[in-house]
Amino acid sequence: MATTSEFSSKIGLIAATVGSAVGLGNVWRFPAETQAHGGAAFLLVYVICVLLFGIPVMLGEFSIGRAGKSDAIDSYKKLSPGKPWWISGFLGIVCSYLILTFYMVVSGWTLEYLYQSLSGELFAPIPGVEEGSNLQFADRMQEYVGGVWPPMIWTWITIAVCGGVLCMGVQKGIERASNILMPLLFVILIILCINAMSLPKAAEGLEYFFNPNFSKITPKVCISALGQAFFSLSLGMGTLITYGSYFRKDTNLTRTAFTVSLLDMAVAILVGMIIFPGVMSFGLEGESFDGSALVFVTFPEIFNNMWCPQLWSSLFFILLAVAALTSSISIAEVSIAYFSSHFNLKRVPATCVVLVPLVLLSSLSSLSNGVLSDWTIFGYTIFGACDAVTANIIMPLGALIMAIYLGWFAPKNLMKDQLTNGGTIRNPLAGTVMFLLKWVTPILILVIFIASLFT
Ligand code: PHE
Repeated sequence: MATTSEFSSKIGLIAATVGSAVGLGNVWRFPAETQAHGGAAFLLVYVICVLLFGIPVMLGEFSIGRAGKSDAIDSYKKLSPGKPWWISGFLGIVCSYLILTFYMVVSGWTLEYLYQSLSGELFAPIPGVEEGSNLQFADRMQEYVGGVWPPMIWTWITIAVCGGVLCMGVQKGIERASNILMPLLFVILIILCINAMSLPKAAEGLEYFFNPNFSKITPKVCISALGQAFFSLSLGMGTLITYGSYFRKDTNLTRTAFTVSLLDMAVAILVGMIIFPGVMSFGLEGESFDGSALVFVTFPEIFNNMWCPQLWSSLFFILLAVAALTSSISIAEVSIAYFSSHFNLKRVPATCVVLVPLVLLSSLSSLSNGVLSDWTIFGYTIFGACDAVTANIIMPLGALIMAIYLGWFAPKNLMKDQLTNGGTIRNPLAGTVMFLLKWVTPILILVIFIASLFT
């Protein structure tokens, strides 16, 4: 069944797609990966990965979606009937659903931290812990995340907010919310960045972030940078196939892909320009950003050293909540689009079919950080298992099948037609994109996939 929804304007289309791309991946995962993999060296490889692999794969997803005019599975079925390529879309839907189970939980944490920042609770002293000590925020985080009701209730609130937007549909829900929220995100980001530049050791932070030491570029750094590029650009999960099916016939896909990727990269870089000056200025270099520590411990510590911590912290958690919500919405849309087009369901029932079971699954995921931490699968908690299985196995596998399809088995003129809007616009990059999709992308994804199985 074809989709009939479309984004109504160019700006709305960009806002929604950037809303999907800019998420926890930019604010949380990117600085942690940068710190773990050699600072500026990682940034350099990341930028190359976005330009050389991210943009062509994004164009591939847009093309499948806009040509198939359907959800992530049925678009493949329409383009190549009777062939098994739809399995890539199926893996995308499974992966996106598993990701939602923990993405909603972390999005819920950001709402709680926003609430605590606004109320000032976040900076109130904890009995028995010295005020301003680094333990203050680490303790608070552990206690909160391991609790039963508060993180679960905030997860439900997140699901309800996303559900509300999703029920309103593509134009009135997703597009309208993105049109309001994305400019807000950029304004806050710039304010925080200007403030970070006024910190005492801003220059040292920028030096660490921007001055690459080429000897630090190793295969592991490259693999991590490519994984980060895929996650951050929302690739390999059917999200951009689904959004691509809402693009208009006259949308210039190449321009859209460049705009979205550059804005996504700009957000990650601006976040780096906030965190690294803060870390250097307040002597937090030795801390690890791993896991949840960066956003829920290191950032509050930085703000606590500034004047009016509540103000900066509130702005930051508004930013993070906006980023998390618009991405959650796009991840859920993959399944909602499938149920509504495949089973011919209206928006509201399709949204309920997807989100009601998610309430249960994400509650389990939330509890697995505390009372259910003993429930493990191969040594992972439910929360950790969903993260590991999606990022390391299902997502690269789905992306690999898609890349092989696009490079070798898709209808001959699919990409060419989509990149030139049926020959109506010139596209000097079409040949390069097709070459990369045919030769470079599948090989690289295969290498990463194999490497990720062994690391
Ligand atoms: N790109 C989002 C982020 O950076 C995550 C995401 C992945 C969203 C895949 C949609 C699909 O957080």
